[in-house]
Amino acid sequence: MKNILEAPFMVEMIRTVTNMYAHTWDERNGGNVSLMLDEGDVNAYLDLNAVIRTIPTGFSAPELEGKIFLVTGTGKYFKNVQYAPEVNLGIVRLKDQGRQADLLWGYTDGGQFTSEFPAHMMSHVARLKVDPLNRVVMHCHPANLLAMTYVHTLDEREFTRTLWQMCTECIVVFPEGVNVLPWMLCGTNEIGEATAKKMETARLVVWSQHGIYGAGKDLDETFGLIETAEKAAEIYMKIAHLPRINTITDEQLHLMEGRFGVKGREGYLN
Ligand code: 13P
Ligand code: ZN
Repeated sequence: MKNILEAPFMVEMIRTVTNMYAHTWDERNGGNVSLMLDEGDVNAYLDLNAVIRTIPTGFSAPELEGKIFLVTGTGKYFKNVQYAPEVNLGIVRLKDQGRQADLLWGYTDGGQFTSEFPAHMMSHVARLKVDPLNRVVMHCHPANLLAMTYVHTLDEREFTRTLWQMCTECIVVFPEGVNVLPWMLCGTNEIGEATAKKMETARLVVWSQHGIYGAGKDLDETFGLIETAEKAAEIYMKIAHLPRINTITDEQLHLMEGRFGVKGREGYLN
């Protein structure tokens, strides 16, 4: 067996959560990440028949039966992952229609996957339906996006338009816009179902007064998506209280659509 700590997916996961912490998106145990792994990529590193223990999930997701995920642990600090990956991360394979998860590696202190596992798994199901290449769901608490949900309307069209106006390339990075949920109790199946519903039409879902969810085909792309939205929110929070003398117009956003071959969400541009 090869050393799993040298597996490209493991190296990339550790680098990503370390970087998320460095960006101040993940104070204490804030944030969680799940990466779907291909069985063929894992079996050189793990005996897939060796189950350490089985953990109930509390929901059902038949679409994910047999799927394997590398997931951050609940209560774990992203800043510590690089020093003890086997304590802070785990690899699980879903079974029994997604109602249970076999632990194949990690959570060595007896821990388990993130409390947001429902939102992650339900979002994977939703994104895979619109994009079969989707592999990542990422949640974190970036300060400016969070701040924006206190002072900006939560109307999705308005929220998206504001972000698009803050940096020229936002419309290219997230043309489908940003979906927004009102404040809801986190860690529940209800917020998981609501997030997944929003994931049907966008890869970014804001949790008001809490944080954001992103989805994508790899860790880099998903990180970059959240990074771009957070940068736009940062600019908004710098200028929101000042008179706006200039802006990016809808006409200019249409020029960006043409130049980069993207189409902003239907009805979002005038
Ligand atoms: P976990 O430590 O369970 O991943 O929870 C962190 C979090 O951000 C909850 O929304
Ligand atoms: Zn959170």
